[in-house]
Amino acid sequence: MSTNKESWGSRVGLVLAMAGNAVGLGNFLRFPVQAIQNGGGAFIIPYLVCFLLMGIPLLLVEWSMGRYGGKFGHHSTPFIVDAMDKRPFWKYIGVFGIFTNLAVAAYYCYLESWTLAYIWHSLTGTFHGMGSSEVASFFGQYVDVSSSTTGIPYEAVIFWLLCLALNTYFLSRGLQGGVEKVAKVAMPLLILFGIFLVIQAISIKAGQNGAINNGTAGLNFLWTPDFSSIWSPKVWLAAAGQIFFTLSVGMGSIQCYASYLKAKDDIALNAMSAGWMNEFVEVVLGSSILIPIAVGYLGIDTVVEMTKNGGLGLGFRTLPYLFEQWGPTLAALSGMFWFGLLFFAGITSSLAMGTPFVGFLQDEFNWNRERAAWLFGLVILLMGAPTVFFFEYGVFDEYDFWAGTFSLVVFAFAEIVLFAWVFGMEKGWAEINSGADIKIPYVYKYIIKYITPLLLGAVFFSSLPNVWNQITNKTIYEQIAVAKAANDVQKLSFLEDSILFVNGSRILLLLTYLGVALLVAIAYRKRMQKNTLL
Ligand code: TRP
Ligand code: TRP
Repeated sequence: MSTNKESWGSRVGLVLAMAGNAVGLGNFLRFPVQAIQNGGGAFIIPYLVCFLLMGIPLLLVEWSMGRYGGKFGHHSTPFIVDAMDKRPFWKYIGVFGIFTNLAVAAYYCYLESWTLAYIWHSLTGTFHGMGSSEVASFFGQYVDVSSSTTGIPYEAVIFWLLCLALNTYFLSRGLQGGVEKVAKVAMPLLILFGIFLVIQAISIKAGQNGAINNGTAGLNFLWTPDFSSIWSPKVWLAAAGQIFFTLSVGMGSIQCYASYLKAKDDIALNAMSAGWMNEFVEVVLGSSILIPIAVGYLGIDTVVEMTKNGGLGLGFRTLPYLFEQWGPTLAALSGMFWFGLLFFAGITSSLAMGTPFVGFLQDEFNWNRERAAWLFGLVILLMGAPTVFFFEYGVFDEYDFWAGTFSLVVFAFAEIVLFAWVFGMEKGWAEINSGADIKIPYVYKYIIKYITPLLLGAVFFSSLPNVWNQITNKTIYEQIAVAKAANDVQKLSFLEDSILFVNGSRILLLLTYLGVALLVAIAYRKRMQKNTLL
């Protein structure tokens, strides 16, 4: 059937690769911004509850689904779920586990490539002597691909292509030779860089080098519990969304990695190690760099204001300038460490996004690793191009909404129903515990069966109004109304173009889903034919 006989080289390699999958740009850029947008201390309680009641159960479920599918030689979710239940419906739900990874990789690799560019500019001293608004507008010029004011023409495109090439190359080297090796180098360095930056950040002193707050001001903002928003659905949705994104659950990449385990390998302890390592990196390192530094120099109000409409820029727009306050040597070093840390976090995640598609082509169409990896690179090039060239029209955010947020909830809900109710919780609990090196508290059997599906259902239904606003382009139409009232012709034509690009990117995503579904259908027919021949 499958000629794909790859497996993990060592347990340390596996856990680091899984942690690398989870630890990503989400930990350092998305988490702080979500926390700020949702009121700091008000965000943390829902976040931790979501981790315990949705994150951990989904980790256990996905790891065991993956190892189970791997026993039958399946390494991608359409056929992993097929091994659990034969009804054809599930295979097409399983398509999410390939689709999401392709669509997220398409915009994620672009974001990842910014970190390479910023390492370059930190080292070559581009930010020396720039004012804070110059550093901020540097980012705007950078993502405006046709402007060459940053020094190199088409700079953003060049770094993007470099980043795609690196990803493709490491993927083509295989699981042990590529993914695992990268994780073993990148993860320890990431932690070292992170610790260096945390120490820098928390030792900021108000009144020194232009800081207006101590480094601890940002930490207090984040860690002083605030119960006022505990009933706000918006905060809960954001917390659940962050837990999904950061743990890489609901995406199919954990199942894929776990499918390369051996049938007798432990999953309970491995899943907990990788999951808790991610949380350590997120709540300890991720929350102690960007926020303390930004709050230290800019104050809470400014930082909150800056994240009002998206906060992606925060780490890029502000930090290079703030690092400069520490003098040229520390600035270059901190810039290299911060963007280097982001790059390592990013690449260990984007490699994970590539693995399901590559595994699928290897399993079902007998492609070799290199060819499959190059096709992945090509798909990401084509799908990613609109996010690069039409970034300012909101294509990037559109991908993030559908693939990076909505799909995760849909797929997570479907898979937990499959696991706990169709496959069956008795069998499921036995799968989780087989080969286990630790004892998972028994209460998790009930959490997985009742609580997690209910919570996921609640998250899904309460997000439907947002989904509707997104589909109907509510925010864009609101802005159009404002532009009309102000008679701003330029703004108006820009917004009308945005609608075109945003709708176009939805069609592209839909076609990608259908394309993967078609490949799955073809693969399934091939299998059926083979079976009747035997
Ligand atoms: N968890 C990663 C982060 O925090 C993102 C990520 C990893 C991901 N693997 C994925 C997103 C697969 C979608 C699909 O940045
Ligand atoms: N859209 C998020 C925000 O503005 C930012 C974001 C989305 C992000 N996807 C990401 C940040 C991936 C880092 C990594 O709040």
